[in-house]
Amino acid sequence: MSDIRDDVRAGFNELFGYEPAGMWSAPGRVNLIGEHTDYNLGFVLPFAINRRTVIALGLREDRVARVASSFADEVVEIDLAELSPAHLHGWAAYPLGVAWAMGERGADLAAVPGFDIFIESDVPVGAGLSSSAAIESAVAIALNDVWHLRLDRPTLAGIGQLAENEAVGAPTGIMDQSASLLGRPDSAVFLDCRSLESDIIDLGFVPAGLVLLIIDTGVSHSHATGGYAERRASCELGARMLGVGSLRDVTVDDLPRARGILDDVTFRRVRHVVTENQRVLDTVRTLRESGPAAIGELLDASHLSMRNDFEISIPELDLAVETAQANGAIGARMTGGGFGGAAIALIRQDDLSRLQVAIDGAFAEHGFRQPDTFVVVPARGASREI
Ligand code: GLA
Repeated sequence: MSDIRDDVRAGFNELFGYEPAGMWSAPGRVNLIGEHTDYNLGFVLPFAINRRTVIALGLREDRVARVASSFADEVVEIDLAELSPAHLHGWAAYPLGVAWAMGERGADLAAVPGFDIFIESDVPVGAGLSSSAAIESAVAIALNDVWHLRLDRPTLAGIGQLAENEAVGAPTGIMDQSASLLGRPDSAVFLDCRSLESDIIDLGFVPAGLVLLIIDTGVSHSHATGGYAERRASCELGARMLGVGSLRDVTVDDLPRARGILDDVTFRRVRHVVTENQRVLDTVRTLRESGPAAIGELLDASHLSMRNDFEISIPELDLAVETAQANGAIGARMTGGGFGGAAIALIRQDDLSRLQVAIDGAFAEHGFRQPDTFVVVPARGASREI
């Protein structure tokens, strides 16, 4: 962490030739359970992880915004008056999209000063760990501070989501930015995506001797194209056919009636969302009553639902989950939007190295590229660094 801060400060100085006004950081996230429920206004239970994006920001006397990062060669420059989704492309759409979205949600972009931003991150890209939300959330808290906007964190999450939806063009929900902004150490964020009320849930991994392993398949996914948007459209169709505003209004008890109304594919999409919402509620209750060692079956059931009903898993993710389950994991599931990315396995610390060896062996046997496996720790949300 301190290394990244040093690098970011140095990168900022070298490029812009002056000292930044401050530095801010925001974490990636992993979703423990509650997949494709956020845009259906349901429940999610993600946590912020110990991988962060750090930014340095300096204010300018003119109205120009410049963004640069350690992962791209170019410096992207735009006049604040020109900020609009149509003018934003590539990686710069994340930070500059946030500046634009702040204007949409109350900031007077004609009255605020321009800025220079330098970004660096150790959140893996494409692994389903929300490297994009980490950038958005870091920029959102930074601009909120230096522009004296006093927006609260749920509003900042909405701003990050708006940037992602309109400037980046990915029709994603509110989960990732909420986790990045609201996370706390050793805890998950239980979010009601309709009311936007959230609760911090103690995970208790350490006292239970458990760790959460990420198995990153290296198969990259994009939420701006293809399957993600298609699944979202199926959910919206299902809600319309059932005569409800969103699938949040459908319960497990309604499923027999839904089966009679919906075609088979739409029914299975709906069944995933409805049962997944129930699994989030059950996970929260189980964590509170019995602790993390008792949530394994819920994680396993979530994976089956995504594999069979929502159909967003891939062979590499299924193999990761099955290998974890066969090698001592308490529970395992794919995590994130699907079609690639990572699986998670909740496992006793003592069984961890055995599982890592087993996963490497299983992937080699199937001729799949070696996955990257690493433990993540529930960490603090976005914050000012200096
Ligand atoms: C991606 C999106 C989230 C959420 C998940 C699926 O991570 O960014 O909003 O929809 O997929 O749960």
